Amino acid sequence: MIIKSTIDRIMEATDIVEVIGEFVQLKKRGANYVGLSPFANERTPSFTVSPAKGIFKDFSTGKGGSAVTFLMELEKFSYPEALKWLAKKYGIEVEETVDAPENREEEQRRESLMIVTGFASKFFHESLLDSDEGKNIGLSYFKERGFTNETIKKFELGYSPDQWEAFTGTAIREGYKEQFLVESGLSVKRDNGALYDRYRGRVMFPIHSFTGRVIAFGGRTLKKDKNVPKYVNSPESEIYHKSNVLYGLYFAKKAIRDEDNCYLVEGYADVLSVHQAGIENVVASSGTSLTSEQIRLISRFTQNITILYDGDAAGIKASLRGLDMILEAGLNVKVVSFPDGHDPDSYVRLVGTSAFKKHIEENKKDFILYKANLLLKDAGNDPIKKAEIIREIVESIAKIPDSIKASVFIKECSYLLQIDERSLLSELNKMRQAKAKKDGQQQQQSSRFNEPPPDEPNFFDEPEVNVAKDESIQEKEIIRLLLLYGNKMIDWDGIANTYIGPFIIAELSDVTFEHPDCKQFMEIYRQEVENGVLPDDTYFIHHKDKGIVDITVNLLSTKYILSENWYEMHKIMVHDETANMKATILGAIFHLKKYKVGKILENLRTELQKADTEADQEILLNQYIRMKKVEKSISDFLGSVIIK
Ligand code: CTP
Ligand code: MN
Repeated sequence: MIIKSTIDRIMEATDIVEVIGEFVQLKKRGANYVGLSPFANERTPSFTVSPAKGIFKDFSTGKGGSAVTFLMELEKFSYPEALKWLAKKYGIEVEETVDAPENREEEQRRESLMIVTGFASKFFHESLLDSDEGKNIGLSYFKERGFTNETIKKFELGYSPDQWEAFTGTAIREGYKEQFLVESGLSVKRDNGALYDRYRGRVMFPIHSFTGRVIAFGGRTLKKDKNVPKYVNSPESEIYHKSNVLYGLYFAKKAIRDEDNCYLVEGYADVLSVHQAGIENVVASSGTSLTSEQIRLISRFTQNITILYDGDAAGIKASLRGLDMILEAGLNVKVVSFPDGHDPDSYVRLVGTSAFKKHIEENKKDFILYKANLLLKDAGNDPIKKAEIIREIVESIAKIPDSIKASVFIKECSYLLQIDERSLLSELNKMRQAKAKKDGQQQQQSSRFNEPPPDEPNFFDEPEVNVAKDESIQEKEIIRLLLLYGNKMIDWDGIANTYIGPFIIAELSDVTFEHPDCKQFMEIYRQEVENGVLPDDTYFIHHKDKGIVDITVNLLSTKYILSENWYEMHKIMVHDETANMKATILGAIFHLKKYKVGKILENLRTELQKADTEADQEILLNQYIRMKKVEKSISDFLGSVIIK
């Protein structure tokens, strides 16, 4: 367990804009920051961060919380993991009470898997640098390819000994469980149950999550034998989903944001060489075609992608279609190819950093024009082929969400293809209309379940809350008032020297909350008050229970949740509930009580209907009448509170 004072220091040091800014491109808007949700695919930013409150709120998914919650949501960190990540970032030493080693078993599965892959990465790295076999075979290979010690260290490159159980044996001896060795793909199980190493005699490229933890490996053979697969990669696992990982992103993300551009290459070696040459905004799709998740990852940092292809034209054509996806995401795509036989790795080593950069600047082409050019060369003078090409190009252009950008491309393509601009435009419009129709249908279907997020996120400023159907609004209103005013002094006639929080708690000591999070919140608040502490909003924002954080953030982002009518009726101006604190606080307390009494009455009515004997009926009826009186007195009281 991390001790309390460490947690406090971490919370104090944490700047939520800075933390979230590592993952999301944030723009300042008023007092808040907005960006594209990292949890959903969206084009209009609905993700909002409030530095003043230290919280974020994601419109499209409803997620919200502190910097810690953010890391837990995005990186699937556990609470202590998220704290440790922040501690590392802010250079805070973490003090923990000692956990027994068997606690490793209790760690969550994902954590266990990452512990195993982290251990393996260290094992392979040490075997590369320290063992004779590693030095002679692995390290000399990397050196031959021109990788410096610095690169080898930074990317934690490694070597797996050419034996059946070098890694597995060590891992088992060190107490790692078979289950996780197999699930992470590091070991393979034989039919007889024995385990052996998946990677043997290969140089190892650890693949990092974008917070820098090793989650998988690619292992390259050093043999020339055509029957041996060149790369062996980790299988999919709970911590490794190939489709949403980009090799090198962890090391590239800062540069991608700074340069506002991301270079996309094909292989591990390309990333390493280009990065080593000082061009750090480079990632690889690792041989597979780009997925929409990967595009979303990149678009968190920049809207500009430059694809660095090797000279092989067949490969280029195969991936052209996949690139339409990038256009659809609204990103700007440029393409650079290299002289025949060269890939970014070999080319940068051949010509050096500045000539490499110069080549990119001089040869980068907009993807659409690049595609048009390439296809055109193929078609020659065949009119049918040419018509097909035109269709294909316009199809790509139709994917671009920005219509001004699209019309620029139409102009350029009309020149390139020697076709009247107007006929291209009419083709484009036809496609757009068809697409709009299709989207409209989908939209209609989905909007029955989901309101689309507003164009301008204004969650912190002008909340729109749907109160009508919320059963627990009275309970939530109490929580909201505790959060906002709990540690303020009561300043109204008849009552003095009391804080609002303890006052509310005392007034509601006879009321049981139903909503589980509200109930827990009240319990925590009550306990803290008993300990002589007045917990404030930060206390709850940073609470380790997710339900507590969620409800806190939601309520802090809300101005009032009781029905506006109620406030109006009671002459409380909703825009300034603090003007009449007495009415606000007592109103909420008695509103809740009235609601509870109403529920009791409802139950009594049902029981009355079911009661068989007259005696039972009489008892129930008496209870009912008493409760009715309570209800009346509450209503009267509510009425009187208002007139100051
Ligand atoms: N790849 C793979 N399995 C293969 C071949 C390739 O997973 N059998 C993936 C790897 O991620 C590799 C990328 O595709 O990095 C590009 O392939 P290639 O250009 O062949 O590999 P390089 O990394 O460039 O390796 P090298 O330069 O050492 O040949
Ligand atoms: Mn290569």
